[in-house]
Amino acid sequence: MDKIVIKGGNPLKGTVSVSGAKNAALPALASCLLAEGRHQLSSIPRLRDIDTIRRIMSQLGVGFHDRGEVLEVDSTRITNHEAPYELVKTMRASILLLGPLLARYGKAKISLPGGCAIGARPVNLHLKALAAMGVDMHLDQGYINARAPRLKGADIFFDTPTVTGTENIMMAAATASGVTVLKNAAREPEIQDLARLLRRMGADIEGDGTDTVVIRGVPELGTARHEIIPDRIEAGTFLIAAAMTGGEVRIEGCLPDHLEAVIEKVESAGAGVKVLDRALEVRGPDVLQSVDIKTLPYPGFPTDLQAQFMAMMAVADGWSMIRETIFENRFIHISELKRMGADIEINGSQALVRGKRPLLAAPVMATDLRASACLVLAGLVAEGGATEIHRIYHLDRGYERLEEKFSLLGADIRRVNA
Ligand code: EPU
Repeated sequence: MDKIVIKGGNPLKGTVSVSGAKNAALPALASCLLAEGRHQLSSIPRLRDIDTIRRIMSQLGVGFHDRGEVLEVDSTRITNHEAPYELVKTMRASILLLGPLLARYGKAKISLPGGCAIGARPVNLHLKALAAMGVDMHLDQGYINARAPRLKGADIFFDTPTVTGTENIMMAAATASGVTVLKNAAREPEIQDLARLLRRMGADIEGDGTDTVVIRGVPELGTARHEIIPDRIEAGTFLIAAAMTGGEVRIEGCLPDHLEAVIEKVESAGAGVKVLDRALEVRGPDVLQSVDIKTLPYPGFPTDLQAQFMAMMAVADGWSMIRETIFENRFIHISELKRMGADIEINGSQALVRGKRPLLAAPVMATDLRASACLVLAGLVAEGGATEIHRIYHLDRGYERLEEKFSLLGADIRRVNA
């Protein structure tokens, strides 16, 4: 199993490019099931989660052809309607296949995703919404067996804004009969990206990016060409890394509008951030200041950057209160940060970080995707030898060549085949 070895202390310097967004690419790929033919997607990142959804879709009969920058997705022939446990258990976003399969074939059998390291993460809101649209579902040996000869539009209120739930129902509703209104919908940029793609396929969708999304069902959709938006979480990770190492970095190919909450917090920590058209320039401060954060649905501070921000606060001057309001167990990185000398106390969904320098190099274990990124950032500033990060397959789920990108920015970081 590979590990990452980092000798901390180098300020990051130079230019880095952001890849396409994992969490926009996954629903975009799923949406290709909705219409027969060859779809063309570009800026699909090369990640393990993308391989997983491709493997499941291949088993459904979808063909994939890498044509340089463009991934051609051929969903002309679908021969199977089942997403098996062996693959779904490694990636919860597989649930995104449920809506499109029901829309196109009226049936689907998908393994119910289990809990995961960051929380229970139920899919009850996806299922409740589909039931309101006329889907008949039962659970059989851990699989959701769903049938709906014809989906019908419905008024749906989400108890809590759910990102993949909103996406799943937008796809299911695109060709349903009648109008579907999603209230308290999630507003993440990835939802707007999916809506843009669905509109290119012929869907009638309005209100994406607000908390009320209206989908008027159309008889059928066609193929489309679409470029995935840049990954705001990857860009945010570079923003924090640059600030934290006292570096000077230009982050290219990102959409600063998607990062407002993060830019504000990084600036409050003392960094200088220059916002350009599709780029950011960051200059780290001599001394980092402590800042409180609270994770919230978009446009609030993203839960997917909480762990990385905490690594920065661990070496800031003063005390920082970090509140996680999206997932109940997203503090598992704390025990590993403490092994590197961080002073952090957990009280329910709050973590009190008493900033101090330095962090100390140590062998640590990645436990989930964003926790892995947090440990890489901690390694970049740790003193006293090399930090070894184990189980980095978590990192490969969602960051494309992260160690290569950091290395080009001057970090002493390498992947070792252990
Ligand atoms: N929730 C329910 N019932 C549901 C669905 C969600 O109670 O049926 C709860 C969740 O337990 C959570 C909250 O609602 O407390 C929000 O969860 P959401 O459904 O929005 O999360 P998700 O769609 O499963 C996506 C991203 C996550 C990201 C979250 C929050 C994808 C593929 N995944 O997950 O990304 O953390 O939204 O922004 O888009 C990551 O990339 O590392 C990652 C975990």
